Parts: sequence; structure tokens; C-alpha cells
Amino acid sequence: MDKRKIGVLTSGGDAPGMNAAIRCAVRVGCDLGMEIYGIERGYEGLLEGAIFPMDRNSVADILHKGGTMLGTARSERFKTEEGLDRAAEILDTFGIDALIVIGGDGSLTGARELSERGITVMGIPGTIDNDLGFTDVTVGFDTAVTTCLEAISKIRDTSSAHNRVFVIEVMGRDCGDIALYSGLAGGAETVLIPELPYDVNEICKNIIQSSNRGKQHHIIIKSEGVGISSMELAEEIERKTGRETRVVVLSYLQRGGTPTSTDRLAATLMAEKAVKLLAEGSDSKAIGMVHGEIVAFDIEEALTIKRETVKTIYDLIGVLAK
Ligand code: F6P
Repeated sequence: MDKRKIGVLTSGGDAPGMNAAIRCAVRVGCDLGMEIYGIERGYEGLLEGAIFPMDRNSVADILHKGGTMLGTARSERFKTEEGLDRAAEILDTFGIDALIVIGGDGSLTGARELSERGITVMGIPGTIDNDLGFTDVTVGFDTAVTTCLEAISKIRDTSSAHNRVFVIEVMGRDCGDIALYSGLAGGAETVLIPELPYDVNEICKNIIQSSNRGKQHHIIIKSEGVGISSMELAEEIERKTGRETRVVVLSYLQRGGTPTSTDRLAATLMAEKAVKLLAEGSDSKAIGMVHGEIVAFDIEEALTIKRETVKTIYDLIGVLAK
């Protein structure tokens, strides 16, 4: 066996299922005779040497919990040349051969930078945003969509009862997938995402026309990354349609919560792959799921794969809402 001392960290926004990935990495690693070390608060903890040994019992009773038992952070100082050099130095001091990094775009970019400094890193996509091109799903996305869906169903009751328009703002700075998938599953009338243009007049025309057809409710799902504030949008809609319009910002409600089976399974299978590759002596990889299969990509290449917006889903939402 090649790599023996493995560090595990979670970085960036927490995502439900991160704990399932940690649990699997630790237990499969122990099973293969590796020494596993937890690193607290992502790259911040790495820079501080907040590193502790883990065993099978360290990860008991975490599978069903949201958040991350290791803690997480967005570390600015890690991104600097000095920060990256310091991180590599700390790993050398602790004798850690390889890292498993569970996080989103920024975290995996950090993983690639470490890899360029000669450290073997396995990246596991953990973010609610689903914004990584090399994988069909990121760990946490399914739970976030499920949470949004519950909210949409509740708000739809009030929308119908009061004949009001609702703008529901969901997360997604650059990627509209949470809005798209929860909008499709939740029967939203309109979805606004950062990747596609929108026209407020068109939205207002749809609201008036659907109201004339007797529709009581009207739900607009808007990604936070769309370039108009939800309040401004609601005021404009109210002015142009004469319909009362309310705003609900789901915000951090989407980040926590018990992970769905889909997220637990993806996290577990990706973590298993990561540890087994390390045991085989692999170089750095990004692990993803493509057409239901767990796949390992060259980490450099993985981060260049552009994510495609699912325009067909966007169009279908429009058709179904007519
Ligand atoms: O985890 C991803 C994400 O939820 C984005 O959609 C959002 O813009 C961002 O994190 C905000 O998180 P924070 O306040 O932790 O930086």
C-alpha cells in the first residue's frame, strides 16, 4: 500500500452528506490499515495544525446529521502563495501523505493547488450548489432541493388562499440548479436563474394571463445570483400586475438538515472510491458521479469541465405552467 497517513477535511459552505463522506473515508481507511487524521475547519484548521487522529468510533452517529463534524470555513489566507506553502509544510510536519478534501468549487481549486505542490489530494464534491461540471451531482444538492420543495408546497397553499404572487429566493450565486430542480418538482410558474436572461414584462404578462385563466397561485423561484433583488422584483410585479406580491428568502435553511438517502449514498460511494484510490497509490483525483457511476478524473482536468445549464428543464417549467 502506498499512502498510509491520510488527512480529511471539509471546506466551504457546509452541505448535508459531508458527514456521510467523512464516516466512510475514516472507516474504509481504517479497514485498509491506514492512519486517518481529521482536520478541523477546513484549510483554516490545516494552517493552524488543528489535526487529530480518528478511528472508527470517532465517526459514530454522524451519518444522519447535516453540517460537518469537522467544522468548515472559507479561508482567504490559504489562497495566498504563503498560505499554500504553509499548508504543504504543516502536512509534511505531521507526516500526512495525502488529503481528502470535501467541498465545492473553491475548495477543490485549493486541492488542485496543493496537488501542484506535490501533495496527493482526492477531491469529493460537497456543496448544495451543484455547480461542478465534472459530476452530475454534488453532495448536499438533493437535500437542499428537498428542503426548498417543502417550502414551496407550504407557500403555494398561502399563494392560492390569498391569490398572491410569491417570489421565493433560493441559493445559487452562479448556478441556478437549486431553483431549476425545485421549481420543476414544485410546479413553479416562473424560475429565474443567473445563467439565463429574464424579462420582467414577460413575467408580469404571464401572471396576468394565468390569473385570467383562473389560477389562484403564482410562484416565482429566483436564484440569489440573479441581478435584481427579490424585494425590487416583487415591488415591480405588484406595480405592473396589481397583484399582491410577497417575498420569502430561504437562505441558510437550505444548507442544514438531515441528508436525503441520495446524498448519503453519493457521499459514501465517492469517499470509498477516494480511499481505495489512495490505497492503490493513485495521484490526485476529483471524484464524481456520471450517469450513476462513480468516476475519478484528473483533478486539473476536472476543474476545467464547464457545467451546462439544463435549458430543457427551464423550457419544460414554462410549458407546464401555461
Ligand atoms: O454553499 C454554497 C452557498 O450556499 C451559495 O449558494 C451561497 O451564495 C453561499 O454559499 C453563501 O454562503 P456563506 O455565507 O457561507 O459564504
